[in-house]
Amino acid sequence: MEYRTMGSTGLRVSEIGVGTSLSFRAMADSDEDLCISIIHEALAQDINFIDTAPVYGESERVLGKALEGKRSEVILASKVWQTDAASARSSVERSLELLRTDFIDLLQIHNMAGWREITPTLQKLKEEGLVRHLGITDRNPKNYGVVMEAMRTGAYETIQIPYFLGETSCRAEVLPLARKMNMGVIVMRPFSQLISRESLLKGAAASSGTGLAGGSQLLGAGADETFSFLKDYGCETTGQGLLKHLLADPTVSSIIPATAKTKRIAENAAASDGIPLPPEVCERLESLMI
Ligand SMILES: NC(=O)c1ccc[n+]([C@@H]2O[C@H](COP(=O)([O-])OP(=O)(O)OC[C@H]3O[C@@H](n4cnc5c(N)ncnc54)[C@H](OP(=O)(O)O)[C@@H]3O)[C@@H](O)[C@H]2O)c1
Repeated sequence: MEYRTMGSTGLRVSEIGVGTSLSFRAMADSDEDLCISIIHEALAQDINFIDTAPVYGESERVLGKALEGKRSEVILASKVWQTDAASARSSVERSLELLRTDFIDLLQIHNMAGWREITPTLQKLKEEGLVRHLGITDRNPKNYGVVMEAMRTGAYETIQIPYFLGETSCRAEVLPLARKMNMGVIVMRPFSQLISRESLLKGAAASSGTGLAGGSQLLGAGADETFSFLKDYGCETTGQGLLKHLLADPTVSSIIPATAKTKRIAENAAASDGIPLPPEVCERLESLMI
């Protein structure tokens, strides 16, 4: 596992982290043991960066249980999705309780909710030592105008945004601004849209004859065969190729794929092998998108 400095936070985060949205939201209540084994496998694979949120079902509670006695091994990121100061404070206090910790390493404003109203409260929580660093997230590239407005205030040290083969709009303005301001960049959803759009676009892909409409089949049946050329670059699976494609961007601090399968943790962690995907291979991958 390779590590990168997450902007001005100075934190050294693993290039591959773990997200807990889709997976833990669905499983934490019904299969707590599986969630705990996924987190323990992540630690065994030298992953040290975990992202969660109060709105991810039972995720924070189960994460707190999984990290009992292991808190010092991880850099913990959570979020707040409240639009007034008092609720924001209560939300963070509840997160601390569920996560069984005295402090959150990175507290992010979830999808920019109430960012103007709650930031002074979050700064106060930082002064009190309950939170070490502040960041912002947005899942929708259409909101990048607001994201950049917030970035320019200098109140936040990280951004969390979607970035994958079919969604690279952050490259235009957001990532250059992050570089200029020395902000950490966390990549959310490296896979989900490639999968969830599959059924939607299957028909379009079949009729276009390319089989790659919007990346909808990149992780579908036959994908590993289609992308076998990636094996020459240390990628045993298409998923590893997609992660390495993102790691080729030095602005990225950490990618946080989620999974409901323990075995995926090692697969995804192996994408961080210190061998960069050459620019021509990244270009070849990107040229496959329509
Ligand atoms: N606004 C926000 O702040 C925001 C929004 C969205 C996401 N996030 C964060 O970003 C994290 C990741 O996003 P996400 O959970 O939406 O989606 P994701 O990580 O892009 O996709 C999760 C899906 O990818 C699959 N997957 C994982 N590794 C794979 C591999 N090597 N090959 C093929 N499939 C693989 C998983 O399936 P299996 O279970 O079969 O492995 C799972 O269904 C979230 O968990 C959350 O922490 C933040």
